[in-house]
Amino acid sequence: MNKKNISEIKTDFLIIGSGLSGLYSAIYASKFGKVTLITKSSIQESNSYWAQGGIAAAINDDDSIEIHKKDTLSAGCGLNNEEAVNTMVSEGTERVQGLINQGMNFDRAESGFDFGIEGGHSRRRILHALGNETGKAVVDFLCKEVEKNNKITIYENSFVIDLFSDSKSCFGCLVFSDKEKNKISIHSKATIVATGGGCGLYSQSSNPSSTSGDGIALGLNAGAVVKDMEFIQFHPTVFSKEGAQNFLISEAIRGEGGQLVNHSKSRFMENYSKQLELAPRDIVARAIFNEMRTNGEKNVFLSLKHLKPSLIKNRFKNTFELCLREGLDITKDDIPVSPAAHYMIGGIKTNISSQTNIKNLYACGEVACVGAHGANRLASNSLLECLVFAKRAIDSAVKLSKKEMKIPKDLIERAKKCSLISSDKKVESYLNYRILLSQTINNYVGILRNKKDLLLALNEISSIKRTNLDEFDLIDKRLMNLKSLTYLITKSALLREESRGAHIREDFSSESSKWHKHINWKLNNGTLRFSYSKQ
Ligand code: SIN
Repeated sequence: MNKKNISEIKTDFLIIGSGLSGLYSAIYASKFGKVTLITKSSIQESNSYWAQGGIAAAINDDDSIEIHKKDTLSAGCGLNNEEAVNTMVSEGTERVQGLINQGMNFDRAESGFDFGIEGGHSRRRILHALGNETGKAVVDFLCKEVEKNNKITIYENSFVIDLFSDSKSCFGCLVFSDKEKNKISIHSKATIVATGGGCGLYSQSSNPSSTSGDGIALGLNAGAVVKDMEFIQFHPTVFSKEGAQNFLISEAIRGEGGQLVNHSKSRFMENYSKQLELAPRDIVARAIFNEMRTNGEKNVFLSLKHLKPSLIKNRFKNTFELCLREGLDITKDDIPVSPAAHYMIGGIKTNISSQTNIKNLYACGEVACVGAHGANRLASNSLLECLVFAKRAIDSAVKLSKKEMKIPKDLIERAKKCSLISSDKKVESYLNYRILLSQTINNYVGILRNKKDLLLALNEISSIKRTNLDEFDLIDKRLMNLKSLTYLITKSALLREESRGAHIREDFSSESSKWHKHINWKLNNGTLRFSYSKQ
């Protein structure tokens, strides 16, 4: 393969990622121009696809935008950007209504929508579809729209190597297309990063391992500011059985009355919160972790035996079937669960128009950090965030000057240098590093953190030598991205000497007013530097 051979395409909107934000922004952008949608797998495959709980929106009669806002702020422990929360909960109802008008079917009860409830919500406000397969239902619905839209060109199995950026403006990206077995230079007026989060980096995660934070690394390498990386949300209940795969046991099951019990079959949540199993998920995750540690067990159990079998089999059909495959009939057997990494609250810093600090570069969904979740995301607010800020990214991008910007020559020359071929030895060594780093952050940068463990983790991470990225190949790039992300999570967790929301330090066990601020990261001449900000 000739490493100098690059084909070129031009587009109005370049959208990277095919989760809910990517699909939604692609469809909306197609009203205004030509769209190119890039995904590293297939368009049906994304973390959004696996979302179970649903979409929180204040549309039930007993609810209001104010109450939804209050619940979101209360979960966020003082670090939310209030403007972002306002925007999300108010415009969210319109976006959800828009989906319903377009024909998206959410589950209904006799009297209207069958609203669910999850931890931290004071009202039933969660719309769900196909029982607890909401992500699949919404993604399938939008995929059909994308596939029949002739303004959208899709590149599947295509890995973005770099954004074309001179640290002031973004001009598009360089992508390796598996289909064309070649590099493609995409020249775009607006670039929207919608690649999802990075919790698949943890060895114990509710996410697929492909959820590896690539978009955050792309943003960082392009000169974008990345913030709040210490806030990794752990889901309290992920299926946890020796030898079996981890999968999410939705919080919505606790919403319908599921009870947590320890190995002595005693309920324990009353020792931790008045809200019992429906306390915000940082509290439930920590309670479970504490039970496991105190009793020296690898899991606790979620018990549904007291619930109607018909409710379990209909509303949670998917979970019922997955557990049956693992030999458990959950209408009779308790489900072994433990917490696992679930959602990356931090990401590429944006304003409420989804704009980054780089001109023409936008980010939305889990890859972005607009500040709506603060230090702890309220359950089922993430799909809502995707819809609201995907639309806002496009609304802002259409206002950009239509004058074409030329990609600086040196960026193209640099792109030509990236080789697509790596030796087998190099690939093997990358895979070994990935396992090492996944276990390192899992063991030392988990639910409960302390200085000693965090320093151990930093030591492991720094044992990976930086590659000279003047002459590089795809594997070098992936390894450096992995190193940067694990470093940002760990170093931010070390810097934040307090416990707040999803970030808990054993050695600084309370919230501190000194830490009512955010940690921002930026790459300056090849070195990662941090600063603090109020927003
Ligand atoms: C769940 O169904 O428990 C996950 C929902 C979410 O993470 O928002």
